[in-house]
Amino acid sequence: MKNIDSFTHTRGESIYLDDIPTTIGTLYGVVFGSPIAHGKIKSLVLTDAEASEGVVRIFTHLDIPGINQIGGIIPDEPLMAEDEVHFNGMPIAFVVATSTEAATLACKKIKVEIEPLPVITDPRVARANNSLIVPPRTFKIGDSKNAFQDCKYIFEGLAETNGQEHLYIETQGAYALPAENNAIKVYSSTQGPTAVQRHMADVLGIPMHRIEVDVTRLGGGFGGKEDQATSWAVFCGLATFLLKKPVKYALHRMEDMRMTGKRNPYSSDFKIGLDENLKIIAYEAIFHQNAGASADLSPAVLERTLFHTTNTYYVPNVTATAYSCRTNLPPNTAFRGFGGPQGMFVIEAAIAKAAESLGVAADVIQERNLLQTGNELPFGQIVQSEASPCWEKATSLYDVENMKMEIAAFNNTNSVYKKGLSFMPICFGISFTKTPMNQARALVHIYTDGSVNISTGAVEMGQGVNTKMIQVASTIFSIPASLIKLNTTNTYRIANTSPSAASATADLNGRAVEVACNALKERLVEVAADTLKCDKGDIEIKNEGVFVKGELSSMNWKALIMAGYLKRISLSEHGHYATPGLHFDMTKEKGHPFAYHVFGTAITTVTVDCIRGIYDIDSVKLVHDFGSSMNPLIDKGQIEGGLVQGIGWMTMEEIVFDADGRLRSNALSTYKVPDIYSVPKNIDLHFLETDNDNLAIFKSKAVGEPPLMYGIGTFFALRNAIKAFNPNSDVAFAAPMTPEKVLLGLYHSKNG
Ligand code: MTE
Ligand code: HPA
Ligand code: MOS
Repeated sequence: MKNIDSFTHTRGESIYLDDIPTTIGTLYGVVFGSPIAHGKIKSLVLTDAEASEGVVRIFTHLDIPGINQIGGIIPDEPLMAEDEVHFNGMPIAFVVATSTEAATLACKKIKVEIEPLPVITDPRVARANNSLIVPPRTFKIGDSKNAFQDCKYIFEGLAETNGQEHLYIETQGAYALPAENNAIKVYSSTQGPTAVQRHMADVLGIPMHRIEVDVTRLGGGFGGKEDQATSWAVFCGLATFLLKKPVKYALHRMEDMRMTGKRNPYSSDFKIGLDENLKIIAYEAIFHQNAGASADLSPAVLERTLFHTTNTYYVPNVTATAYSCRTNLPPNTAFRGFGGPQGMFVIEAAIAKAAESLGVAADVIQERNLLQTGNELPFGQIVQSEASPCWEKATSLYDVENMKMEIAAFNNTNSVYKKGLSFMPICFGISFTKTPMNQARALVHIYTDGSVNISTGAVEMGQGVNTKMIQVASTIFSIPASLIKLNTTNTYRIANTSPSAASATADLNGRAVEVACNALKERLVEVAADTLKCDKGDIEIKNEGVFVKGELSSMNWKALIMAGYLKRISLSEHGHYATPGLHFDMTKEKGHPFAYHVFGTAITTVTVDCIRGIYDIDSVKLVHDFGSSMNPLIDKGQIEGGLVQGIGWMTMEEIVFDADGRLRSNALSTYKVPDIYSVPKNIDLHFLETDNDNLAIFKSKAVGEPPLMYGIGTFFALRNAIKAFNPNSDVAFAAPMTPEKVLLGLYHSKNG
């Protein structure tokens, strides 16, 4: 099935927040954010700003009728600062005026006096100061300490990954409207409608049932709107509630870049031990996560780092400890992979270091240690692995031996250009790591003309989930997609939704649609048997018709529905799904948190210009474990998009904060993301199709986040190309590998 959005997207008819017509009298808000990263508020003078043209009212924390708190996991994040500010851009006031321009102008007239306090931007400094978001956590299997004594080779080192700006094309925003009886309707560009509803209720001091959150679609979220869409919606809701007027706020790109959190940067230490056969016997890692000024989702991100500490390798002795460090940066948050990539980069660095030191290719170590079905992960889950099938398929299909020979020949004959190759095998756990979040609901109505209307908790953000929801209903009812309409995501239709995240949206909501459709179908089969006077077991509903013992009867889908209506059976159903078999015990750090894992192998080749330090990504050839893809075209799009986003993180996207905690890469002129010229010249994708029972919807494995991690391969391919030019180079395991770093690496030696 074609992506249902492709028609309206290409005609420019798709509706995003800014396409919703505003009603007469709509006011516009702008947040006034702290000009410095840390300090005590001494005075706040609003008089000039209030007198500014078009200003209706300026709100501060003093205006909040409920609680001044929007923390998702722990309550450590005020909506607006009270007496201290903790990051540059932290909201202090919300200016509401007759236009965005008037509100922006008024913001400049606000006078705030802040006594500066020391600014921390480095997570290791934060840890040294004992400035942690939550107590550290340790995952442990076997006994790494003792196991190192049996290792022939031991290597230690440091690995760092920087943050990443989400850069969704649609910036954050919301539009709130007053409804009768003190209720509010809010349109929000959020991945988590229920999070918006819950926090707005808390801030306004009213029950959740008075808040209707509606989401048509997002122009991208990538995790940046899982928790961080909430505050903007709550600001609008607060002003609407107090003014009884519609209020809208859509952030300017530079506001969005300055005030919202990004992917958590990590600084990590590793120690890896191998035996004489290059089997990894022991691994230790210490992760320092830069959480920013408040928890947001960082504790959950930290947990996923621990879950992916060993990537796709079996290691019998592991000790991994993770610190979530509080700094004076905007609170960092979910970003495609959710801490997994940050953990996986570290073990890839450890393997690269071992390989370079031992003079073997990293893929020899990687291949020898791939997870096998039945292996136990450090947190106790027994894995069902496709790691080796993906690896083997990739090496044979793409003739890696020949690729390696060609690269060696190229490097032997070229002194100015050097090529590098790397393998990046991945393993990603599917499910929210917090078990209770793995539930979803769907509401399915069949109207008397046979048309179907579906609501779910899934938010469309470009990943194609709406198409998949329609596919589920269309497959179960065996009717064309044109008979099915999907509603906007709305908290009045579907309650208590988990955010659309963790790559699990299609699985969870699709299963709920499946449950509802199957229940309806069961009732319809009874109606058909009753009407056609035959056995239930002989009835089949397919191809828009009713079949009896394999023969098409006189009853079609539309007549069946009408018969059901006349018999007064319910043509509506609310389906509920909760992933079975999941559990995790945080006191032991053991359990079975994931429904299943997704595997794959990417082979990346690059060419480095050894005079300029610039480079091309020649090809990424990959084999990805889709299970049985229910929509190969959408899934292929996710692979390509995720891969390129991962390459951006690893190569060119460079977030720079100065020592004062001010974002210097605060616009698209200073923050470079991949464009059509920087994507791999060639992406080859092969589907590893398996028919194993998994918990995915229609056995079609989740695909949203895993491909991002293929991008990590580019870092190591570049490193190998640098080594081909200068074997003595000792370029740090610090992403992103910008052309500047490549250039320094090319001419750097171990002795300085
Ligand atoms: N693809 C597009 N086009 N836009 C997005 O915002 N978000 C990613 C991924 N793919 C995203 C995307 C992230 S972070 C997640 S968790 C999943 O999609 C969420 O959707 P899913 O659960 O339906 O895979
Ligand atoms: N992934 C994404 N988002 C989440 C998760 C997760 O595992 N847990 C809580 N929010
Ligand atoms: Mo994705 S980071 O789970 O929104």
